[in-house]
Amino acid sequence: MDHFLYRDGALFAEDVPVAEIAAAVGTPFYVYSTATLLRHFRLFDEALEGTDHLVCYAMKAASNQAILKTLASAGAGMDVVSQGEYLRARAAGVPGDRIVFSGIGKTSEEIRVALTGGIRQFNVESEPEMAVINAVALELGVVAPITVRVNPDVDAKTHAKIATGKSENKFGIPIARATEVYAHAASLPGLDVIGIDVHIGSQLTDLEPFRLAYQKVAELTQTLRTAGHDIRRLDLGGGLGIPYTRSNAAPPLPVEYGQLIKDELGHLNCEIEIEPGRLIAGNAGLMVSKVIYLKNGEDRDFLILDGAMNDLLRPAMYDAHHDIVPVIEPAPGLEPRPYDIVGPVCESGDTFAKGRLMPPLASGDLVAFRSAGAYGAVMASEYNSRPLIPEVLVHGDQFAVIRSRPTFDEMINRDTIPEWL
Ligand code: LLP
Repeated sequence: MDHFLYRDGALFAEDVPVAEIAAAVGTPFYVYSTATLLRHFRLFDEALEGTDHLVCYAMKAASNQAILKTLASAGAGMDVVSQGEYLRARAAGVPGDRIVFSGIGKTSEEIRVALTGGIRQFNVESEPEMAVINAVALELGVVAPITVRVNPDVDAKTHAKIATGKSENKFGIPIARATEVYAHAASLPGLDVIGIDVHIGSQLTDLEPFRLAYQKVAELTQTLRTAGHDIRRLDLGGGLGIPYTRSNAAPPLPVEYGQLIKDELGHLNCEIEIEPGRLIAGNAGLMVSKVIYLKNGEDRDFLILDGAMNDLLRPAMYDAHHDIVPVIEPAPGLEPRPYDIVGPVCESGDTFAKGRLMPPLASGDLVAFRSAGAYGAVMASEYNSRPLIPEVLVHGDQFAVIRSRPTFDEMINRDTIPEWL
């Protein structure tokens, strides 16, 4: 459920007409709903009620500080994967002891920044990384809390580009080698080995892969405890999928996912962390765009929008489906027509949808891409010298620009010309 609903034929973001935001900030833009962000965070938080837990929002999904602050003030921790994310979370007021650091390529500089600023734990992905964390910790005279990310070799049954839990993927250490790697970790004086981490992929629409992975984690917990390790925290990653279209069967709910966690891992009495990103932000955001032209091709009609693949990459990159809806509902009785919905970027991959049935639309009409809150703005680029589009946050009947649209001068003047030119 989200808070983007029609009232009297006009699409609203909570209590604000989307067209009013478009008039104020211009198109294209992203708009997020505070109530939806909070609702989704709380669904996870409540799903783990009765268990010692922390929901660490995977901020790679949508990392504007206003979003981070909204979630942190409701009790969220953060899952970060770079120095930039770490510093952004800190800038948004998230304390270090609520930040977990994931990612396979943490540099010694990133590790130093996090150890100095405060960190809940590093999720370690390899032995070379473990050695560097140990070295930096010793140099700073601190002990680094770590989990080791294990790769359970489970098929997440999702898009190949976002599956991470098979042995052929670059993530984690093979679960079969875990005993050996944990023994090595425990021998390093700069590390405090506190738990196990796993993340098998994103946009999972079936609970079974989670169950298989978590069963392996439960087994490993027992094995490692028997070997003398004080395993007290399990980071179970993110990955629960969202409905991208209303016609498909809905993916499992956070409450069902929470029950699965309790069933498979509850008996271990570990602190549980989860790292959801998409489910919190995805359906809490729209990308709003305007029709520039309606172009009649030989055998199809093209709706040419002012938003493009550089603004919302997912359709071009993953063939992802996003529902696209008119901001002002057309008069009833008009027959929908098939359109190829495209952006102005100079490649055919800049296509959002092919043969999509839409009410008749004309130049100047506004459309909204649903489910664009996660992996939308954060994956945008300035390809074709198109400035990054603004982000807006709605809260009840108020809205605020949380990232403004750069001017063309701001974008262009970031280049510097060498003196020989
Ligand atoms: N934890 C780790 C270690 C991750 O790598 C990810 C996502 C998450 C948590 C959050 O997963 P989520 O709950 O959002 O599924 N750009 C792609 C998605 C990439 C996901 C990368 N890792 C897309 O647009 O579909």
